[in-house]
Amino acid sequence: MHKWEAIDEANKYIKERINQTPTIGLILGSGLGELAEELADAIVIPYQEIPHFVMSTVDYHAGKLIVGKLEGKTVVAMQGRFHYYEGHSIESVTFPIRVMKMLGVEQLILTNASGGLHIDQQPGDLMLVTDHINLMGINPLIGANDERLGDRFPDMSDTYCKSLAQLARKVATQIGVPLKEGVYVAFTGPSFETPAEVRMARTIGGDAVGMSTVPEVIVAKHAGIKVLTISCICNLAAGILPQPITAEEVYEAAGQAKENFSKLLRGIVENM
Ligand code: HPA
Repeated sequence: MHKWEAIDEANKYIKERINQTPTIGLILGSGLGELAEELADAIVIPYQEIPHFVMSTVDYHAGKLIVGKLEGKTVVAMQGRFHYYEGHSIESVTFPIRVMKMLGVEQLILTNASGGLHIDQQPGDLMLVTDHINLMGINPLIGANDERLGDRFPDMSDTYCKSLAQLARKVATQIGVPLKEGVYVAFTGPSFETPAEVRMARTIGGDAVGMSTVPEVIVAKHAGIKVLTISCICNLAAGILPQPITAEEVYEAAGQAKENFSKLLRGIVENM
């Protein structure tokens, strides 16, 4: 099926089930999905019911789309995202962003878990992503371009919206949640990076490494959606400390950060 028709089919399916138009999208990453449970007047749609949505295969990622109110704003939240390492096509990974756009989303907040590249970072630190480096070896815009979805060659110089970043800084200061800033470097995973890859990521200007977000951000930018990304640094990346990295420590750190994360996101959404 033509991409546009597939997006429209998912869009129509969701629109039939909701009675409010979300203008804010929220993608909640590993261990950070609980906020979606707090939406008021929520309509919950499991991914498997939505045409052309694939299934989330990772533990700690629920597969639900939730439309409801957060701080008085109508949001559409993805509780659990799709990752390229799950074996989904890059088109499937980014499909929900295009559906969000058709639903009416103008601003998108993405969250993720990442590994810090600096010794002074602590598990649980929140980092405002100010830019990214794509080392996934893929780009979701490869292929024929449908001009209805966006330009053939989208500019990426202002991808992480400066005014949303400013709002995030302001809210973080107001509520007393420390917010670091930095560049997110995306690898495909699912293996964690090698120590040499971690040194490279730091040398080329990275501050955190992760396995998601960048494909969605590229598609959001293509679609003209304003992007805010906040990463939870869950561990120090490979080789910085002597011990190996485990998925458990990542989820545990994300869990510990969730209170601050939730306060920060609520404050941001309230002022969007
Ligand atoms: N590397 C890649 N992705 C991650 C990490 C990491 O160290 N921690 C959490 N997600």
